[in-house]
Amino acid sequence: MADVNLFTQGRIDRFETKNRMIMAPMTRSRALAKGVPSDLAIEYYAQRASAGLIISEGIAPSAVGLGYARTPAIENSEQIAAWKKITDAVHAKGGRMFAQFMHVGRIAHPANRYTDESPICPSAVKAAGQMWTDTLQMQDLPTPRALELKEIPGVIEDYGKATKNALAAGFDGVELHSASGYLPMQFLSTNTNQRSDAYGGSATNRIRFVVEALEAMTKAAGSASKVGIKISPAMPFNDIHDADPVETYTTLVKAIGNMGLAYLHVLKSLPEPDYFSMLRPLFKGAFAAGGGFTKDSGNAILAKQGADYVIYGKLFLSNPDLVFRFAEGLPLNEWDPTTFYAGGAEGYLDYPTVKTSTV
Ligand SMILES: Cc1cc2nc3c(=O)[nH]c(=O)nc-3n(C[C@H](O)[C@H](O)[C@H](O)COP(=O)(O)O)c2cc1C
Repeated sequence: MADVNLFTQGRIDRFETKNRMIMAPMTRSRALAKGVPSDLAIEYYAQRASAGLIISEGIAPSAVGLGYARTPAIENSEQIAAWKKITDAVHAKGGRMFAQFMHVGRIAHPANRYTDESPICPSAVKAAGQMWTDTLQMQDLPTPRALELKEIPGVIEDYGKATKNALAAGFDGVELHSASGYLPMQFLSTNTNQRSDAYGGSATNRIRFVVEALEAMTKAAGSASKVGIKISPAMPFNDIHDADPVETYTTLVKAIGNMGLAYLHVLKSLPEPDYFSMLRPLFKGAFAAGGGFTKDSGNAILAKQGADYVIYGKLFLSNPDLVFRFAEGLPLNEWDPTTFYAGGAEGYLDYPTVKTSTV
């Protein structure tokens, strides 16, 4: 194979990607009440359409999956219509976009939701830590309710329904957020999954929820090639812990490696062990590596065939024209963490592109 770099075309499902740079899913807390994305998001995503692929901010497949302030969902016609305006704007600029399904499970505060249902988890294990709410400021995370066995098929089916809704909203595909300590990772991890039924105990049982969610999404999409997954092995974020992440994640990736999925997105948060080189050979399909990449380290992992795509988060957040800046070797805007989740246009729509930049 010819040398691949960040600017080489690629292919995901039936479309060409213009390059090998994927914009990471990033929650921005700009949605309106009741999980409807705001019109500000139209311009935000359209500004970044030169990415090879955009992964949306985390979107709750159903209201019980919401947890943070001002975050969106995709379960009803009002939400679908609002997303359609966003995907239309991205497509009009030649971009492609997947929807990320983020069911937060126990990482939720009731004041941030439009449902009375209590937060759920494989087991009733409270997460240490607090969460921002607009009405009560910082609040302790509540103790979640353990899912009953008979409820699990319904939670999985919500991912299938959300897939249909996302495709109706014009998304090119869907991603299962199985990282960062949210519901699918709560099933994978031993501290949050203390079940003794078919969804708990052995690694084979703990991966069952993720495999079944991917199957539901595949069935709803009509093809696995429209379905991706994100994992973050051993990442301690959101008070999550697994006794043996190497066993858990090798078991998972072996189980999903031949499903024909669009891609496996691995967020590497610790230097050792190297989950990229451990998991890539187990997965037949595009491999997307993320976590702290620069232009040089991105090109390096592509050149040594350690990945097919490189994920960029904060750099895409602060540089709408990141692809152009990398290609031309131009300076980069710094990101401002104080506006990541602040609401409003500031720190969202006003990062300069090179033409308007003073740098
Ligand atoms: C503001 C912000 C919001 C994020 N929200 C999400 C999210 O909704 N879903 C997700 O999978 N990851 C989320 N992440 C993690 C990113 O997708 C990415 O994995 C992480 O930022 C590491 O990549 P980077 O070093 O290139 O920024 C978020 C990161 C940031 C900075």
